[in-house]
Amino acid sequence: MNILGIETSCDETSAAVLVGGAVRANVVSSQRCHGDFGGVVPELASREHERLIVSIVDDALKEANIRKNELDVIAATAGPGLIGAVMVGLCFGEGLAWALGKPFVPVNHVEAHIFSPFIGQDATTRIPKGDFVALTVSGGHTLLSVVHQDLSYEVVGRTIDDAAGEAFDKTGKMLGLGYPAGPVIDRLSRQGDPKFHRFPRALTASSQTSRNYHGNYDFSFSGLKTSVRTWLDRHDPAHVERHIADIAASVQDAIVSVLVEKTIAAARQFRVEAVSVAGGVSANSGLRAAMGEACRTHGLELFIPDAAYSTDNAAMIATMAGLMQSRGKAVANAYDVAPFARFVPAGRALH
Ligand code: KG4
Ligand code: ZN
Repeated sequence: MNILGIETSCDETSAAVLVGGAVRANVVSSQRCHGDFGGVVPELASREHERLIVSIVDDALKEANIRKNELDVIAATAGPGLIGAVMVGLCFGEGLAWALGKPFVPVNHVEAHIFSPFIGQDATTRIPKGDFVALTVSGGHTLLSVVHQDLSYEVVGRTIDDAAGEAFDKTGKMLGLGYPAGPVIDRLSRQGDPKFHRFPRALTASSQTSRNYHGNYDFSFSGLKTSVRTWLDRHDPAHVERHIADIAASVQDAIVSVLVEKTIAAARQFRVEAVSVAGGVSANSGLRAAMGEACRTHGLELFIPDAAYSTDNAAMIATMAGLMQSRGKAVANAYDVAPFARFVPAGRALH
């Protein structure tokens, strides 16, 4: 089966082609126009997608050496995301599928992240047989879910304020590290001391505000932001500059330790044997190392996508469409699906 996937939910314009489950092309263009604004400007994002979508899809087809009429399925992100941005890829995909007379599969971006560790051939067979706990950490989402082999899932925890990626980006902005700051903090952390300053770890067993911590899988990162601001206000710029790597490492350590602690606690409570981590923040080297070590300690199998598939990409959209088709979960001929901005779990929320 030849699947074209399209992703335009935020600031990456991406198109991918899967042939028999294998990724033949995954073209990703990251928009550079937002850097000066310290965050993604929705209107600029939509315009950039509009400008690039035709050439990115063409590039993917060329790279895969597939002609449009050889496609069996066309899939695009239907949400959640910036509504204008989502609309560009979704309308393009629906229109192309309709014109070619091929099935169109709308894909939930967050669900595509959840299953992104299985991108590539044999995705269907590589999904664990038993339930697994999935941590989805991106610029827009921080979710813990219990996922079943039939692609259904229950959300057991989510952020009550900022997403983990936002925590990286917003604290990084305060530290003058540009946008997106996640990868920069990751790089700086390798030369810094994570114990330099202990930033708060909200809603965890070790936090003082965690009276009802047990079984609380929600996250909160806004206190970390305030704490970094307070630290910066108390120190002169020369001191900050001298210790920028130490502060980056301390911020990263605070975020990563919460993510690892809650994921492992959920895996134990729900008695699963595997854990997955996906979304832009799963590219973080500190998170990959700490989660790897924690999973080894607790005898859990760990699934993480290759770094190229951690951040937004269309290969995960095409993979999700393929999985949905193989499980009979794709809506037939959905040419008029409306885009959506907010994540509404398809599964039952446990609380
Ligand atoms: O999944 P993604 O590409 O887009 C969304 O769906 O949001 O995630 C982007 C987020 C940004 O917040 C970015 O700073 C973060 O992922 N990110 C990282 C790293 N690479 C990307 N955060 C920490 N360390 C990284 N290496
Ligand atoms: Zn994403």
